[in-house]
Amino acid sequence: MTDTTIAAVRGRRVWDSRGRPTVEADVILKGGRSGRAIAPAGASTGTGEAVDKRDGGTAFGGLDVTAAVAAVNGEIAAALAGRDARDQAGIDAVLIALDGTENFARLGGNAVVATSMAVLHAAAAASGQPLWRYLSQGRKVRIPLPEIQIFGGGAHAARRVDVQDFMVMCPAATSFAQALDWTAEVYRAAGTLMKQAGKLQGVADEGGFWPAFASNEEALDTLVRAIENAGFKPGAEVAISLDIAASEFGRDGVYKLALEQRELDSAGMIALLGRWLDAYPIVSIEDPLAEDDRQGFQDFTAAYGSRCQVIGDDYLVTNAGRVEAAAREKALNAVLIKPNQSGTVSGTRAALEAGKAAGFGTIVSARSGETEDVTIAHLAVGWDSGQFKVGSFTRSERMAKWNEVLRIEEELADEAGFAGWAALPAGARRW
Ligand code: PGA
Ligand code: ZN
Repeated sequence: MTDTTIAAVRGRRVWDSRGRPTVEADVILKGGRSGRAIAPAGASTGTGEAVDKRDGGTAFGGLDVTAAVAAVNGEIAAALAGRDARDQAGIDAVLIALDGTENFARLGGNAVVATSMAVLHAAAAASGQPLWRYLSQGRKVRIPLPEIQIFGGGAHAARRVDVQDFMVMCPAATSFAQALDWTAEVYRAAGTLMKQAGKLQGVADEGGFWPAFASNEEALDTLVRAIENAGFKPGAEVAISLDIAASEFGRDGVYKLALEQRELDSAGMIALLGRWLDAYPIVSIEDPLAEDDRQGFQDFTAAYGSRCQVIGDDYLVTNAGRVEAAAREKALNAVLIKPNQSGTVSGTRAALEAGKAAGFGTIVSARSGETEDVTIAHLAVGWDSGQFKVGSFTRSERMAKWNEVLRIEEELADEAGFAGWAALPAGARRW
């Protein structure tokens, strides 16, 4: 093991998949090893998330990050110099104390998460192991079940449809590589259907087809046909997963479905999703209700949690305390894990472990604004999350993550199994 003392921390401005500025951090150790990470950025953010620091003003729509980069090169670099990069918990505690706010508003969640992940990479590099193996610490891990977007909607497609993500999962595949093979065929089949219907209009923020549909149900019908046309049994081999991202159109118990020009209350929203669960082979639903609809989450999970994974994203914001509360209240049965919602690697890990302790499904996830950074692929395997969500099956900020898991799967060979159906609630296997 080389010297793991932090010699320097450097921040710089780089660009994300939406062409917006973001923060990259390098952590250089005295022994010569180093680590690098880039902060991603969400569009449909939960109010309880760590917040990115943006400059405001006129440059780049106010989204520049020069102050966040300055924080990395200034205060953060000074506070971390001389610390041991292997002490992730201690370093994350320093970052939390240095910032001093609840949500990293002072230094910037973007500055902090890039630094925290770069420290992790540096420590792994010094150990001579790939990051996923450094994280697994000799424990047996699974290759995660991927959740892959076919149509993108909501905030990622100018609200062309209300639902944000229409995705597929291939739990009957026997490996991650095969799940990607199947998804590639479904994605192609969906594109062909869109073209035939004269509805091919490019792709949304995460690479899924831009959904030129007249209703949310038309998207679901098209997805089922795409699965069939690709040669798979809907539900049994390739199933549907939705991210409703309901905080984007619901507040104070009122849900405004713009596409269909109607308003629903919480019970109406639950009934609508229940009809979809009856009619379509859906195995997972994320944020079915808005982040302020605690009772709605409990009612939805009581009604449908036995036959469908119910994931909290905006509702839980990768926060261990919120996961524990949701488990007590039976508000959900799965948690989305996004490092930049928490701000630190340790906080992210704590939320995932709280989910596992509660018997929840755990899904490591990208953001809609991404880069070539593949840290989350290593977190998903090394922390044995069982599931992995990255967006669609085009655009290299997405494909970089899928491809990284392919490499890890090859390296693990017989050591690890593919999570498959075991990642989902048993009752989801009903088609
Ligand atoms: P976001 O979308 O990164 O824009 O928040 C991803 C999600 O809602 O899961
Ligand atoms: Zn979401």
